[in-house]
Amino acid sequence: MKNIVLTGFMGTGKTEVSKILAKRLKKQRLCIDDMIEWKVGKPISEIFKQDGEAYFRKIESEMTAAVSKDKDAIIDAGGGVIINENNYRRLKETGVIFCLTASVDAILERTKRSTHRPLLNAPDPHSKITELLQQRQKFYAKADYTIDTTTLTPDEIADRIIEQMALLEENEQHHKTFITA
Ligand code: S3P
Repeated sequence: MKNIVLTGFMGTGKTEVSKILAKRLKKQRLCIDDMIEWKVGKPISEIFKQDGEAYFRKIESEMTAAVSKDKDAIIDAGGGVIINENNYRRLKETGVIFCLTASVDAILERTKRSTHRPLLNAPDPHSKITELLQQRQKFYAKADYTIDTTTLTPDEIADRIIEQMALLEENEQHHKTFITA
């Protein structure tokens, strides 16, 4: 099976949903943010503070290249990963990309207590989220599938992804049968 790649804005449920998918499908979960922290040896907030966002993005691209070599995995890709065209292309080569979205209010509610999202440590997080979402819209729109998670539970989101992957597998099998018949 191709990798299942979860991307989309902070607070849309990627981490929780990727854990559910890995458990239910019995697949390996690769989290790009965790790999960055492991590689650099400090939390993301410290990387941003001490080394700057450009350095974070550099390591993020290296980790994206590494996970894209895998197959049959569930990849949790932080909200900024596919803003970079090379990252997008790499992930797309070996995976099906699902973009999770949510309303600004839901994102605000889900992220307001988090400490590992330096980009949202702004005086007016609501405006910051709105601004970033607008900037990123065209990149997120390139995902294969988009799921609005505003009113869905993580289990329901996982159900939809599993259903979609099953449909893709079915189509692929059908296509193969057709070609070899
Ligand atoms: C970021 C999202 C974060 C993390 C970093 C930057 C972004 O990951 O990679 O704070 O640019 O959207 P999550 O989307 O998993 O919160």
